[in-house]
Amino acid sequence: MRFAPQHITLKNGKNIVIREAVCEDAQALIDAAKSYLRTSDYMCSYENEFNPTPEEEADWIKSHQKENSLLLVAVDNEKILATFNATGYQNRKMKHVAVLGISILEDWRGNGLGNILFESMISWAKKNPELEILVLETFSDNLTAINLYKKWGFTVDGVRKNYFRNGNENYSDNILMSLNVK
Ligand SMILES: CC(C)(COP(=O)(O)OP(=O)(O)OC[C@H]1O[C@@H](n2cnc3c(N)ncnc32)[C@H](O)[C@@H]1OP(=O)(O)O)[C@@H](O)C(=O)NCCC(=O)NCCS
Repeated sequence: MRFAPQHITLKNGKNIVIREAVCEDAQALIDAAKSYLRTSDYMCSYENEFNPTPEEEADWIKSHQKENSLLLVAVDNEKILATFNATGYQNRKMKHVAVLGISILEDWRGNGLGNILFESMISWAKKNPELEILVLETFSDNLTAINLYKKWGFTVDGVRKNYFRNGNENYSDNILMSLNVK
């Protein structure tokens, strides 16, 4: 199900647009993802582990052009500030489930963009004829993200102990959360 672009004013006064990603965004999305990986301790990969070609990134963008999937970007004059994917399963037994992932550029965090993106995504998912459940995972010490997810109604399904290793002796648990949208 497609998404009509939205024009938004953030707390910092900037006017931005939230729209679906298109294949032409591939290189800009790679650059943005490398920046998220560089500036957050709560991503599953390090920056040097993420090296897709623009063609591979375009394939990932295209994989969201399905009824139960959506890849949103927030842009300031076409600079990508944030990426928010809802990746729906394509096997019939799980087509009602989509996996979420959100990241915002460091300089744009704390301006209400996370809240706005969740409002847009959940309202899209509620209207989506296929989707029933949104799921996500997060580091147990990512309190900003956990607060955001709880604020939008997500509840904890389970905890995987010591799932992420941040250094030789430094582990975080993986918090599994979900929201029923129907
Ligand atoms: C997590 C993230 C998406 C939140 O987006 P954001 O734009 O910074 O968040 P917002 O300003 O919209 O705030 C949303 C909510 O998050 C929580 N929050 C925001 N900043 C917080 C802070 N410093 N401490 C605790 N909670 C905080 C609050 O619940 C807030 O809602 P409220 O302002 O109505 O109380 C963003 O910070 C980010 O991309 N971080 C790095 C990557 C990341 O951690 N991604 C998630 C991986 S699971």
